[in-house]
This record gives sequence, structure tokens and C-alpha cells, in this order.
Amino acid sequence: MAIITFPKDFRFGVSTASYQIEGAYNEDGRGMSIWDTYSRIPGKVRNGDNGNIACDSYHRMDEDIELLKELGVNTYRFSIAWPRIFPKGRGEVNQKGLDHYHRFVDKLIENGIEPLCTIYHWDLPQTLQDEGGWKNRQTIEAFVEYSELLFREFSGKIKSWLTINEPWCVAFLGYFVAEQAPGEANLQTALDVAHHLLLAHGRAVQRFKALGIPGEIGFAPNVTWYEPFSNRPEDIEACARISAWFMEWFCDPVFKGSYPQILVDWFAKKGAKVNIEEGDLEIISQPIDILGINYYNGTVSRHKEDHGTFDCEHLDNLFDKTDIGFTIYPDGFYKVLMDIKNKYGDVPIYITENGATYNQDPVDGRVRDDKRIHYLKQHLTQISRVLSSGMNLKGYCIWSLLDNYEWSYGYSMRFGLVHVDYQTLKRTKKDSFYWYSKLNQNYWFEM
Ligand code: NOJ
Repeated sequence: MAIITFPKDFRFGVSTASYQIEGAYNEDGRGMSIWDTYSRIPGKVRNGDNGNIACDSYHRMDEDIELLKELGVNTYRFSIAWPRIFPKGRGEVNQKGLDHYHRFVDKLIENGIEPLCTIYHWDLPQTLQDEGGWKNRQTIEAFVEYSELLFREFSGKIKSWLTINEPWCVAFLGYFVAEQAPGEANLQTALDVAHHLLLAHGRAVQRFKALGIPGEIGFAPNVTWYEPFSNRPEDIEACARISAWFMEWFCDPVFKGSYPQILVDWFAKKGAKVNIEEGDLEIISQPIDILGINYYNGTVSRHKEDHGTFDCEHLDNLFDKTDIGFTIYPDGFYKVLMDIKNKYGDVPIYITENGATYNQDPVDGRVRDDKRIHYLKQHLTQISRVLSSGMNLKGYCIWSLLDNYEWSYGYSMRFGLVHVDYQTLKRTKKDSFYWYSKLNQNYWFEM
């Protein structure tokens, strides 16, 4: 047995996102989002599930905050639903939407829980999509208007902000792989969307600084670790390409003001390029205060001619997988974080997501999710390694507080520390919940 310890000022938390938990999709003036639309297209989401009710968290604020208190976390990462604030994406503000989040944030603070707020976690107002969504540069202006309103409203209450969650998923799952809303498949469009998301991020950071809002701001990319199968240059390069797709494609423009050449060249061979206007890269590379990192999986990969988009083959069967099929590769967590430090320096980092799907229902009122506890221990051990190596890591949030709407998987994948019965909406704390609450008290666990 080894004891894994954490510094007392480390922030432990849990994460959620508006569309995945709130429900109340047509209440208090909320407008429709692209996920309301997409989830209704037959065949797009498993079992035709949508977020109409989800975990009903919109109505169960008190119950959910009680769970956070009992869990003992000092940080809660959540997102604000853009269509609750601007039902039409811009222009007229919906006061009831703002009131809801004020009540929520006030309660968190009263209970000593720091809000870590994501401005955009994928629920784009449908009216903006009708004008082209993220393909249209005008959406950037709407995002800045929305962000500015939130900054002014919540100034002094919310001190940690993330502009955009997982821009890779928005751009490439939404517009290339066609697995998420709005479900298009065109590499050039995906590159345009990615660029517009980065611009929206940069413009919001500029506005935050110009307004002198107290606090810290950044964004939250998703990263994966691809370990080369061998030291052959072609294996190393194949891994560099695919890693860059997730990380450097978004982090290089933000931290260095340029796109990674290895992928610029690769995409050019596929007939796609970034359409950069004058001044764009200066906007995108505004200095940020924090970086959110979402990490779930990694694998071993090698070059394979004419295979997929990147001529890269993954040996996923070398690894155990969680129920959603994500490979379990804890070492990759350590490696990717050290890589970030090497590439981008000492920016303060929050792990904004890490967690596992194991689909278990309660038996006699108890969910014995030992596998989730093991996954968390394995990954938190890597976090401890990173902290011991002197990296500027401020906190760690588990995805997720509750089982919730897992996008195109609907309700079939359970990531929560708390089980949700989607018929009755009853919450049942899993064994992992009790395990994490102990860690939140002690700042150590046994591995
Ligand atoms: C990424 C996303 O940010 C979140 O919405 C999703 O549910 C989890 N990871 C799990 O896939």
C-alpha cells in the first residue's frame, strides 16, 4: 500500500454541463438549442433520448447542492445555458434565466463552494445555427455579447471562467466526424468552425480583461495521449499528427499565435486550409490565466498507410476499456501534462474533466462501483506525480457529479458519482461518492 497525498490548497471538484443535467427545456423563457434540434433527428442519438428532462437539475438545485456539500468538494464546474440567457442568441435578455443562475451561484458561495463556470458547453441557440452557427463569423460577435453579459452580471461572484469546452468536439465531432450537433461532415467547414471558436475565445478574453473583471479566464481543450508503437520515425510522426489534432491545433494558436505546421501541411494534402484574416492570430493568442484540461484516455498507435484521416492505427485492444469504450491509460495523463508544460510553459492548470463510465444500477440501494474508484485512484496517482514534479496544477474535477445525458449516447452511459434513475429522478450515491468525499476530507488515499 502506498499513500498518495495532495497539498491542502488543492482544489477538488466535480463537473457537469447545462444541457446534460438541467432539463426544463421549455421553461422560464429558455430558447431552443442545437441539441434540442439534433436529438430529435431520428437515428442521431441512442434510443432517441433528448435533454428535455435530463436529471431535472433546473428544479433540483437544493438537492444537488446538498450532494456537493456532502461530497465535500470546494469547487463546482458547471456551464450556463446560452439559450436561457439569450433565447434568440443575442439581443433580448431573459431575466428569468439570469435569476436562475444567480440563485444557483449564490447558494454555491454560501456553502463555500467556488464556482468554475463554462460559458459554452455546446448548447448553441438554434436561432444562431439557423444563420450558419459557428460557420458564420457573426456568431463570434454574439458569443462576445453573451460573455460580456455574464462577466458583468457575475463579476465578483464567479472568479474562474472557461470560455469554450472541448472546441475539438464542437468543430470536428460536429462538422467532420458528424457524431454531434449539428452533424455535418466536411473537413474545410470543421477547420473554419475551429478557427471561429478560437476567435470567439480570444475576443471573450479580450473583453474580460478590458472590463477589468476580477478573476481568471481560460478555455478547456480535450487531450489524449498517443504513445508511438516503436521509435520508427513514421510511428512517431503518426502519433504527433493525431495528438496535434486534439491539442496543438487549439493550444498552439492560443499560446503561440500559430497553427501547428505538421497539421497545416497534412490538411493541405486533403484540400483544406485555415482561412485566417488579418489580426485573427493576435486576437486568439491573448494571454490566458488558466488552462482547463479534459483527459479520459490514451493508446498506443502506429503509422498505417491510407488508414483513417491521419494514416494512424490505434492498438486499443492492448488496454482495458470503460463501458463507453474509452481505453484506460493512466500514464498518459502524466505524460500529456508534462508535454503541455514543455510546450506551453507554466500556465496554471485545472483538470476540468476526468472520469469513467460504468453502467451499474443500485442493488439494495447501493452501487458498488469499485471499477470507477480504481480508475479514479489510478488517475489521481498521476496527478500526484505531476504535482510532485512541480507542475502548476491547481485542481481536479471529476466528470461527473451525476449520471447524465451523454450526448449521442443518450442516457445509456453513466459517468456519475451519483446514480440517477431517469424514471423517478431519484439520486443514489455510489460507493465512489463516499470514496471521493473521504479524499476531500483527508487529502490522501491509499493506492
Ligand atoms: C467531454 C464533455 O465535455 C462532456 O460533456 C462529456 O459528457 C464527457 N467528456 C464524457 O464523454
